[in-house]
Amino acid sequence: MNLLIGANFKMNKTNTELLEYFQTFTTEYPNTPGVDVMIAPATIGLSKAAEFIENSPIHLGAQNMFSELSGAYTGETSPLMLQDIKCEYVILGHSERRTIFGETDEMVNKKVKTALAHNIRPILCIGENLAQKEEGQTKDILRVQLEKGLAGIEDTTNIDIAYEPVWAIGTGKSATPEYAEEIHMFIREILGQQESRIIYGGSVTEATAHELISKREVNGFLIGSAALDPRRLIKIVEEATR
Ligand code: 13P
Repeated sequence: MNLLIGANFKMNKTNTELLEYFQTFTTEYPNTPGVDVMIAPATIGLSKAAEFIENSPIHLGAQNMFSELSGAYTGETSPLMLQDIKCEYVILGHSERRTIFGETDEMVNKKVKTALAHNIRPILCIGENLAQKEEGQTKDILRVQLEKGLAGIEDTTNIDIAYEPVWAIGTGKSATPEYAEEIHMFIREILGQQESRIIYGGSVTEATAHELISKREVNGFLIGSAALDPRRLIKIVEEATR
């Protein structure tokens, strides 16, 4: 199974900046074997990004998607629109979607099912916040998010799971490799025989990538701020594969 190294640009980069980014990335990235690199720009940049990365090894991802195909859903993006521009991945249930925009496990579950039905590979994000961690609730929270997020789905082969502890996102305080491994093993246990990749997200940098990936159950990363610089993303891929 290839490693998945994903960049979540969140609400960053205009289309002009995206062009610059992809020019650097596609020129300098050596297309490392054994790694799938996925880049998820903001929705408005998706179709431009699809043009920029044509014939490159980069996989395109969306940061969100709605669970219906068309209709009166102002501001939303349909899986058909993503399919049309050959967007291969979609990040679903990111903690920012859950906490700022009120997404529930049930909403996320519908989106995961719709993405699968349209051959878009969901990256289902789960993670505990600081208070939950301190109260020793991490595993209970993750179990609920995972079971509800995957409710009614038998085969998770085409789903990637991103473990993103909320306390590690954008804080510079990454989980330790040991902590990430313990949690990934717990997630693997819940998934059973399923082949999903379990990737880690939360303050991953070129300095932490190598040690984190050396853990057996860490199958890749979902990266925010460090991936906003194309050369840092390339460096992280290098560190993850050396
Ligand atoms: P940072 O890498 O900026 O902590 O963000 C992680 C993240 O939320 C990726 O989805």
